[in-house]
Amino acid sequence: MNKWIRQKFMPCSPLGENHSKITGCEKHIRLSRKAACEGTVLLKNNDALLPFEKGTKIAVFGKSQIDYVKGGGGSGEVNTAYIRNIYQGLKLKREQLQVFDELSLYYQSYVEQQYRSGETPGLLQEAAVPEALLASAKNFTDTAVIVIGRFSGEGTDRKNDGTDDYFNLSETEKDMIEKVTANFTKVVVLLNVGAMIDTSWFADNPGISAAVMIWQGGMEGGLAAADVLTGDSYPSGKLADTCAVSLDDYPSSEGFHESEEYVTYTEDIFVGYRYFETVPGKKERVVYPFGYGLSYTEFSLSDLSVCDDKKNIYLSVTVTNTGNRAGKEVVQVYFNAPAGKLTKPSRQLCGFAKTRELLPGDVQNLQLSFAIEDMASFDDMGVVAKSCKVLEKGDYNIFVGTDVRSAAETAYTYTLEENQIVEELHSYVAPEKLEKRLQADGTYQTLECKEIQRETFPCVYQIPVKPEETFQLIDVAQNKLSLDTFIAQLTDEELCHLVTGQDNIGVANTCGMGNLPRVGIPGVMTADGPAGLRIKRECMIDTTAFPVATSLAASWNTDLLEEVGKAGALEVKENNLSIWLTPALNIHRSPLCGRNFEYFSEDPFLSGKMASAIVRGIQSQNIVAVPKHFACNNKETNRKNSDSVVSERALREIYLKGFEICVKEAKPKMIMTAYNLVNGVRVSENAELLWGILRNEWGFDGTVISDWSNFANHKTEVQAGNNVKMPTGEPEELFTAIAAGTLKREELCVAVKYLLSTILWLD
Ligand code: BGC
Repeated sequence: MNKWIRQKFMPCSPLGENHSKITGCEKHIRLSRKAACEGTVLLKNNDALLPFEKGTKIAVFGKSQIDYVKGGGGSGEVNTAYIRNIYQGLKLKREQLQVFDELSLYYQSYVEQQYRSGETPGLLQEAAVPEALLASAKNFTDTAVIVIGRFSGEGTDRKNDGTDDYFNLSETEKDMIEKVTANFTKVVVLLNVGAMIDTSWFADNPGISAAVMIWQGGMEGGLAAADVLTGDSYPSGKLADTCAVSLDDYPSSEGFHESEEYVTYTEDIFVGYRYFETVPGKKERVVYPFGYGLSYTEFSLSDLSVCDDKKNIYLSVTVTNTGNRAGKEVVQVYFNAPAGKLTKPSRQLCGFAKTRELLPGDVQNLQLSFAIEDMASFDDMGVVAKSCKVLEKGDYNIFVGTDVRSAAETAYTYTLEENQIVEELHSYVAPEKLEKRLQADGTYQTLECKEIQRETFPCVYQIPVKPEETFQLIDVAQNKLSLDTFIAQLTDEELCHLVTGQDNIGVANTCGMGNLPRVGIPGVMTADGPAGLRIKRECMIDTTAFPVATSLAASWNTDLLEEVGKAGALEVKENNLSIWLTPALNIHRSPLCGRNFEYFSEDPFLSGKMASAIVRGIQSQNIVAVPKHFACNNKETNRKNSDSVVSERALREIYLKGFEICVKEAKPKMIMTAYNLVNGVRVSENAELLWGILRNEWGFDGTVISDWSNFANHKTEVQAGNNVKMPTGEPEELFTAIAAGTLKREELCVAVKYLLSTILWLD
């Protein structure tokens, strides 16, 4: 049996065709470029300025054309052979565009000098525009491109306080924009960002004709941007977040930096478009709505039909390319649940589908469906039925369109005469300190703060008789004995060792698990993602950097994400690594969260579908996918000690929803708990969350691992259902706890069983 060859021998065995290397290969880099184009969102395109006509002369302003941000910093950073910046990308299109080099070279020397003086790439201040260059650029052309870039990373949030602007423009940026719009008649803006930033300055500015979200597009992001500008490709992305007029318009802004100790989620379920489209007076605060994105062509939707079979709702719609260029359209389905005893958002995404490439005149019929149950709400107050998912009686209206705002109500309505309980769940992880929460009419509901007795989950594991001879793990794979009997032969010390992270082997640099040679348990290594396989520079292995998750989500293309997941997993496998710490799917609650670039969206349904697609792709290669950070790690400041105070309903409907979709649909083999606390309890010590919700209610049967070097207690983690502590644990303390009778051998056996089941799944 050729099992665990890679884990055991670390062969330098390439996985590509004809024994070629696949890590960082041309095919994957092409996929990265394609994905970057596919996630590009065209926000504005007056007089069809884009794509540029052949021969257009352009002057490119902004340091970010050189200081291009391919992705964010921290564990999500990917080391590549090269990064193609925007200027380089545009220069590769010399047959189609003429770039005013003198200006770009000015920015190049500025950026190089800043790097030499130790400034952090991506975080450079904008360079002032020299008058002489402005004048010569104006002589060269009437068309300018402005590039605005933003960088953020793990461990810190942005402040937007004038010293550390993310959302707002800096004074130098404003000055540049003013000068450019005053001197050029045609102006295009490119936004090289990983999260929402201010878009109000160009939306209604007649001096700016076009604006494109190119996001942080991975290692070929500069070329992908050039592909889109020249029309070699086209934008077909849609916003996965709402663009609001100002940072203060996002309801999370009020308390985001209030305390390092806690974050209070008073906006409750009204996150993103659920807030802007529902709460009176907030629609006007939106610049570009969720789901929005233009194309170089035009589409029409027709022949819409909707029906149901009391279980699912089915839709059929025809998309026609009525314009004169190729493109793809995304059809989005939203529902509006009746406002009953539970407050409801006016729209919730429940389905979407993207067309294939449609040439002018092409027609495609799309079929979509979703479960009626998916329209239920979680009743955490018992106003209809306590701790149940409930469909309240009344009319459920369905909206179909190409963004949340313009989606039109269909002729179809699903009506319920009586309230219907969809699922009876439990009251888990309830808040003790949430004083109020927002409702649809903009008022706050006052909540009672009280101490809550948390549920315990006694261990019910039965230890079988210890076998007389020693077996190897491979014997379990060959059905010679059960996993439980195999575990029975392990000493207490060995069990403590197995619930603890293990040292790096090979090119791994985030440690691993397993590693018990006496009984043939291989050491299986982890590696970071999500925008590509991260291997430390010192290992001299260049991998492929794909576009960041925000960009991938904006593609609304699950097939593409599956392809990216598969490609990334192949790179993981070729390097003899087994566990890819990917995808990350925390909710974009605030534009200031330092790790938004690693996460998909403000919407849990879109996040869940995108994560599921990536997990399917990864696990198709027998590489373990690890959705993270479960859950409510929506802020980086003091992330290991910050308490996310949130209602049970918002937890279920917003912050856990994406994980639930992913766990149920794609069956990831592992999940990573978040550093933070939720309602006063650290996630990795949170039995209600891990045993109650994740395992008992959702049926998760993979391994739960901690985030790296958290502040939690190892014994409490094991008992709460966090199976392995990474990257190292406290095995000696566990051993002492067994002796003291405060930790049971059975509890360790359960944790080890989950881990070994995952290792057995590896090929
Ligand atoms: C991050 C995780 C990452 C881990 C290992 C932690 O700091 O939060 O996302 O996978 O480090 O590098």
